[in-house]
Amino acid sequence: MMGNRFEQVIDEFDASADTLREVAACVRYDIEQGLKGGFSSLQMLKSYIGLPQQTETGSYLAVDFGGTNVRTALVKLEGEGRYNIEKKVSKPLTFPGLYDYTSAGAKGSELFDFIAAMIDETIAGDRKEKYYLGHTFSFPCEQTDIHDAKLIKWTKEFATADVEGKKVNKLLKEALHRQGLDNVEPVAIINDTVAVLLAAAYQSPDTYIGSIYATGHNTAYFERSADDLPFPMIINLEIGGFNKLAVNKYDQIIDKASGAPYEQRLEKMVSGRYIGKLFSCCVQDLFDLDELPSFTSVDLSGVLNDEAQNFPSLTKLCTDRAKLTIKQEEAAALRELAAAIIKRSARLAAAAYCGILWHLFPQSLSEQKIFIDGSLFEKVPGIKNNMYQGFSEVLGEEAGKIKLELESGGSILGAAAAAAMSK
Ligand code: BGC
Repeated sequence: MMGNRFEQVIDEFDASADTLREVAACVRYDIEQGLKGGFSSLQMLKSYIGLPQQTETGSYLAVDFGGTNVRTALVKLEGEGRYNIEKKVSKPLTFPGLYDYTSAGAKGSELFDFIAAMIDETIAGDRKEKYYLGHTFSFPCEQTDIHDAKLIKWTKEFATADVEGKKVNKLLKEALHRQGLDNVEPVAIINDTVAVLLAAAYQSPDTYIGSIYATGHNTAYFERSADDLPFPMIINLEIGGFNKLAVNKYDQIIDKASGAPYEQRLEKMVSGRYIGKLFSCCVQDLFDLDELPSFTSVDLSGVLNDEAQNFPSLTKLCTDRAKLTIKQEEAAALRELAAAIIKRSARLAAAAYCGILWHLFPQSLSEQKIFIDGSLFEKVPGIKNNMYQGFSEVLGEEAGKIKLELESGGSILGAAAAAAMSK
């Protein structure tokens, strides 16, 4: 039934080697413009924190906020990259029918009360001992020191009222006070990409790039030169906002329907919050459906893992989510489409990493590990290989010097490291 039409849709997701090289060059240009305060699509947010010494020790509370679940933990740093998570609490931010702290119907104070209650649970109601807390808050923030940060704008379709424009650790502190937890002091706030980089660098020296490839997508790097900064520090690029990209008609549909049209262009082509939707838009178009089916990035992952000849899970997904009965050849074609969406996501992310590497190593590339946290990177088949392929198309032989490493749980360890370093 689909034939050429299907091929056309797949072609829309092609990102050629030339495109990748262009993206890499533009990312580098935007970094260098952004550092000088020139016109750039990257926000280049200062973190006011450098790299850890690896000698940081002590027990710290950590909060990880910004994805599907919020996590709190008590972390013991033991130095030289060693640490122990002594207690961890994790709760979803949305519970259908019960609560949704991410929507415009929820107030910031309610959200932070929820987090304060989780902190209370983490320390088993202790009101005596003093705890210093590091906060990983995964949204673009403006800060002038490591202790607090003002939320510039929600991303990833978060919309909680009364938080934009406010100092986030101050909101947390007020909630802790309402909970009777004046013995808990938030001392540091960092983006999740900064947390991944801190966590990775706490364990392996000479690490300069940390990234998130999950619900959202973003990268931070360590800027060694203090020419344009108060001191050498980690910069949160907000790479998801990179916009020198050719978008296809499905990208445009997603963008228009989003809470922030024209913003977060790269993120909308790459991250988990959006790639399932891209697939949904294509399916709607291909089968002329009246309603948009609701596929998620987890479904895409399932589709790619479905290697059985008659694609049972994909066929079932189409029945469940789109009330669609598909033939075997259509299932095979849809699987290819899912692979194409994932492939473009990985290749664009890889091209952006190359731009950062070119900025960091303008003469010749040094051996470098890029640390990435996130379910997409960890679980979706094909992501890593597509990234390596992208590297070799942009960097040629030098691509062999770049390794991708999973930094699982970096947001918690990084928050604890930041709290230790802030003192
Ligand atoms: C946010 C970033 C964050 C990324 C990954 C993006 O939507 O703007 O600040 O690092 O998601 O969580």
